[in-house]
Amino acid sequence: DDAECETRIRAARAALGKRCVILGHHYQRDEVFRHADFTGDSLKLSRLASQSDAEYIVFCGVHFMAEVADILSRPDQVAILPDLAAGCSMADMANLVAVERCWRELATVLDPESEVTPVTYINSAADLKAFCGRHGGIVCTSSNAQKILEWSFARRGKVLFFPDQHLGRNTGYRMGIPLEEMVTWDFGKPLGGLTEDEIRRARMILWAGFCSVHQMFRPEHIDRFLAQYPDTRVIVHPECSFEVCQKAQYIGSTEYILNTVRAAEPNTRWLVGTELNLVNRLAREVQPQGKSVHFLSPTVCMCSTMFRTDPQHLLWVLENLVEGHVVNRIEVPAAIAAEARGALENMLQVA
Ligand code: 13P
Ligand code: SF4
Repeated sequence: DDAECETRIRAARAALGKRCVILGHHYQRDEVFRHADFTGDSLKLSRLASQSDAEYIVFCGVHFMAEVADILSRPDQVAILPDLAAGCSMADMANLVAVERCWRELATVLDPESEVTPVTYINSAADLKAFCGRHGGIVCTSSNAQKILEWSFARRGKVLFFPDQHLGRNTGYRMGIPLEEMVTWDFGKPLGGLTEDEIRRARMILWAGFCSVHQMFRPEHIDRFLAQYPDTRVIVHPECSFEVCQKAQYIGSTEYILNTVRAAEPNTRWLVGTELNLVNRLAREVQPQGKSVHFLSPTVCMCSTMFRTDPQHLLWVLENLVEGHVVNRIEVPAAIAAEARGALENMLQVA
């Protein structure tokens, strides 16, 4: 049962000592989150993974995060994902075949190697990070996207941004790039469904990917809430649509959202557009300060793949480690890892 599971996780964790570090993303459910040695957004957890000395890095998050931990850690360190089915549906919206086809098609209109910087959101497979490494590109997260885009535009006039169109569009717009200079690449159509002229005029080419959780937040949810509580502060993740971000006063990563609400004056009201586990935990935490935190959508929207990591899977990987068995190791092939590391290290250096 749950109490026994909890006790056994603690015992296994204690038996492993410093040989193991547990990293937990802010979207993890409470029963898992409480076992994390460190918690954070994608950028913070990537840095922690690259700085850790632990033999085993147990990543309570999703697949691309464990891949990054493997790529940035030493070869003798082992990255583990408690449930191998914990993927990210947005990351799956771009794959190497489709991105290489896009690059080839762009080459019929312009010279991508000198005119386009490929930028991949960290929510992507390792081979796409390697693609960026090969083609003079870089990785970004939701907390450094602006700095990464500035770096990218300083090198080449255009950016190909994948897989999340919203992070790309919201960040570009805040940097002063007008919407008319952004096009969306429909990966199901030849030349992304665009004309040659549209591609030549564009500064940002946005992959048509999106997060199925954040797309559920709608501008009318904000309108309705504000009609009832006009003094509410609206804070959202940049994976939300352009229309939602336009109505928010604060936009940023999961870590930014937590820090902003924590630092705010007491007795303030917040409407938060990001995953439910984070919002519920934050609401409980700041309630004693008189701050009220509300979920932006009237319906429940959770990240079902983040939710896959449950205490039973965590217990299973930890008890196996205690017995000397590594289960659910995430190991990126060396050649892909080397190129992906280039793009990730570019990111860590720039921002
Ligand atoms: P953060 O880097 O802001 O934690 O975002 C990760 C993510 O998957 C958001 O959906
Ligand atoms: Fe992926 Fe969206 Fe889940 Fe984040 S919330 S891990 S982007 S599916």
